[in-house]
Amino acid sequence: MAESPRGVTLFRHADVVTAANDSARFSSAVSVHRMVPNSLDQPEHAAFRAAIDPFFTPDRMEALEPRVRRIAHDIIGPLPSGATVDAVTEIGYPLAVRAQTDWLGWQGIEDELLAWMAENHAATRSRDRSRTVAVANAFDEIVLAQVRRRRQMGSAAPKDPTTELLAVTVNGELLPDTDIVSILRNWTAGDLGSIAAAVGVVCYFLAANPQVQESLRADPGNLAAAIEEMLRIDDPFLVSRRITTVQAQLAGHVLEPGTRVYLNWTSANRDESLFGDPNVFRPEEHAEHNLVYGTGIHVCPGRPLATMELVVTAQALLGMTARFELATDAELVRETYPLGGWRRVPLRLY
Ligand code: HEM
Repeated sequence: MAESPRGVTLFRHADVVTAANDSARFSSAVSVHRMVPNSLDQPEHAAFRAAIDPFFTPDRMEALEPRVRRIAHDIIGPLPSGATVDAVTEIGYPLAVRAQTDWLGWQGIEDELLAWMAENHAATRSRDRSRTVAVANAFDEIVLAQVRRRRQMGSAAPKDPTTELLAVTVNGELLPDTDIVSILRNWTAGDLGSIAAAVGVVCYFLAANPQVQESLRADPGNLAAAIEEMLRIDDPFLVSRRITTVQAQLAGHVLEPGTRVYLNWTSANRDESLFGDPNVFRPEEHAEHNLVYGTGIHVCPGRPLATMELVVTAQALLGMTARFELATDAELVRETYPLGGWRRVPLRLY
């Protein structure tokens, strides 16, 4: 645990799990802005999750899978053999944007979203509040345009998850546009930001560990579990925030009510007391304690979508190449806090 004027950061697995599973004392209402469902506490949170979780059922993911597979093939197919390509900007970003627009029915705005993503990353890195606010507002406008278009089209609106959201009820009431935009913003934040970052981490791991790449080519086995273990080793989803509602004790420290608490998933996922050497790749053994998708009531609802997209991308990359490795003629660049994973992963595909 570390204290700073901004609050308390939890690094150990046990502490992060305790706080994430005690939503009564560790509230998610950390911001003045309402974020659906991220900033909600019980009982409101449960009502919204009951409305949102059905968008990620196995049936829906199965129906979406061939479309994501085609997108992954379209992106990876034209990449040149033997030349250097960047896994983050040439695979991760376009895959995240195209999978997302296809899923939500937002075809046609891919370039706008790619430009927004680049500005969002730059704004986040700059930690300039006015820039991050402007980029968030710009995104709300993009989302609102999709919502308005469907409202205008009425019964002629396309049958996609965005249109479906307009008919969702919580406690018997249709949702106001502000909640619909908030839900879509949090879905797209997960889909665009986390998927793009996760693709970079998976590509790096496979390129840097040729034995694992070889064995997955020979026998993909449980590719989803392998990918989750790669993300545990280098979790690109760094932190979530909470605020204490009452005095709470954690790891021998007393936290006063109103203390800001940061759950550091990346650190918890590398806790030596549970995982031994955190860099050792043991998917089955480590699965039980893997916190890549969180734990507790706010556990990631998008996990089935993320898993499907990442598995399909890895399958395409392994299936469409004989091997790939880290390129040595371009720099490998880490992302910087508060973003995780890699900014650039130069690869050579063969
Ligand atoms: C590799 C990709 C992803 C990772 C690593 C990831 C990770 C996480 C984690 C750790 C949390 C818990 C946050 C907390 O406890 O405060 C979370 C929550 C959430 N994720 Fe994901 N996520 C990913 C992809 C997605 C996708 C694809 C979506 C939706 C399309 C999504 C939507 C959400 C939402 C809405 C929440 C908030 C849930 C709630 O508050 O109840 N995520 N995610």
